[in-house]
Amino acid sequence: MSWAGPVASPDEARAILGLGPGPGSWYEVYSACRNYFIKGGEILSAQRPISELKRIPVASTSIGQREKELVQQALDTGWVSSAGEFIPRFEEQFAAFCGSAHGVSAMNGTCALHLALAVLGLGPGDEVLVPSLTFVATANAVSYTGAKPVFVDSEAATWNLDPARLEAAITPRSKAAIVVHLYGHPADMAAIMAIARRHDLTVIEDAAEAHGAEALLDGAWRRVGSMGRMGCFSFYGNKILTTGEGGMLVTDDAELAQRAFWLRDHAMDKSRPYWHPEIGFNYRMTNLQAALGLGQLERVEEILAGKLQVARLYAEGLAGVRGLQAPPAEPWAKSVYWMYSVLVNRDFPLSRDQLRQELLAAGIDTRPFFHPLHTLPPYAKGQRLPVCEDLAQRGLNLPSGPAISPEEIARVCQVIRGVAERS
Ligand SMILES: Cc1ncc(COP(=O)(O)O)c(C=O)c1O
Repeated sequence: MSWAGPVASPDEARAILGLGPGPGSWYEVYSACRNYFIKGGEILSAQRPISELKRIPVASTSIGQREKELVQQALDTGWVSSAGEFIPRFEEQFAAFCGSAHGVSAMNGTCALHLALAVLGLGPGDEVLVPSLTFVATANAVSYTGAKPVFVDSEAATWNLDPARLEAAITPRSKAAIVVHLYGHPADMAAIMAIARRHDLTVIEDAAEAHGAEALLDGAWRRVGSMGRMGCFSFYGNKILTTGEGGMLVTDDAELAQRAFWLRDHAMDKSRPYWHPEIGFNYRMTNLQAALGLGQLERVEEILAGKLQVARLYAEGLAGVRGLQAPPAEPWAKSVYWMYSVLVNRDFPLSRDQLRQELLAAGIDTRPFFHPLHTLPPYAKGQRLPVCEDLAQRGLNLPSGPAISPEEIARVCQVIRGVAERS
C-alpha cells in the first residue's frame, strides 16, 4: 500500500489502513500507521495525524476563578504597578505559608536570588558554593555580584547538593552556599545545616521548584525556604504557584528583609526623595502579580494535592518498567514533585533522548534534565563532576502540570510501556 494524501479523520485513516471500525482516536491510528511504516509500507504522511492529537505539554498552569477576581480587583483600583494592597498581603501570607517571618517579593526568582546575595554584601573575591545540577539562574545570580560560583556534585540518592562534597569544597573564601531543592525534592538540609554551622557558611535556599516541600530538621518538619538564612522562590508560569513572572525572598531576619526591600527599590532614602546612598535595583513585583499570587496561595493545598496525585499515578502506571528509575523519595523529605522525573537507565531498551523522540512523536512533551552548569560555556573550566553529569544524561521530566488529566498520564505511561516492550 502506498498513500501520501492528507487524511481528514481517524476513521478515514483506519479505512485506508484496512483497520476496520475502531475507537477512532488519532493516537490509535498513529500507532497503527507507525507499525505499518516499520513493516516496510509507504504511508508517507503517517506522521500527519499525530499533529491533530491533543498535545500533552510538560507543564501547564492552573488559574482559577478566584485569581481572576483578585486580578480584576487590582485592575479596578488602578494600582497596577508596585504599590497596592496585594503586595504586602502576598508577602505576609506567602512567608507564613513557608514558616518564615518576612517575605520580600521580587520581579522573578532570579532577582530574588540576586537580592539575597546582594544583602549579604558578597562581591569579587568571595566564593559561593552551588550545585552544578540546577537551572542556570542559581549560578548567574552569584556572577551578577562579582562573586564566583563554585560547582559541587550531586548525591545519587536525592540528585541534590552532596553534603560531603560541599564540605570538601569549602575554602577560606567560601561565604555562602545556595542549596537547590531540585524538581521538588528537598536537599539533605539536616546534613547541610550542620556543615554550615561548623564552617560559618551562610545558607540560601533556592526553592524555586519546591514550594511547600518539607524536610526533617532538628526533629521537626520544616518547609523549604525557611531553613536557611534566606529562601528564594520563583513564580514563573510553570512553577507550583505562579504570578506570571515573579519571585519572593523569605527570611526570619528582619534586618536582612529591610535591606532587601531597600535594595529592591532603588536603595532610595525614605526621608529624602530621590536620594540614593547606594546602587540599588528595580526588582519590584507588581500589584497585579501579587493579586494573582494571593489567589494561587488560597488554592495551594489543592495544587499540592494534585501534584501528589500526578506522582502516584505515574508511580503506578510505570511500576515494573525495567530500566526506569522513579524519582527520589527520602523518608526525611516530603517532595512536592514539581516535575515527575525519571532516570532512563542503561537496562532500558532506548536512550533517554530516543525515548524523548518516541514520546514527542506521540504528542507528548518532555524535558531533559538541566545541563550541569560546570559544562556551560560561561562556566566550563574542564571540571568533572561525575554524579551530576551522569544524572543529566539519564534524567527525563515527564508532563507534570496541574492541568494534566489521569487519562493523559495513562497515555504517557502506555507509550513508555509500549516502547519498552517493543524494543
Ligand atoms: C532552581 C531554579 N532557580 C532559579 C530559577 C529562576 O526563577 P525565575 O525564572 O523566576 O527567574 C528557576 C526557574 O526558573 C529555577 O528552576
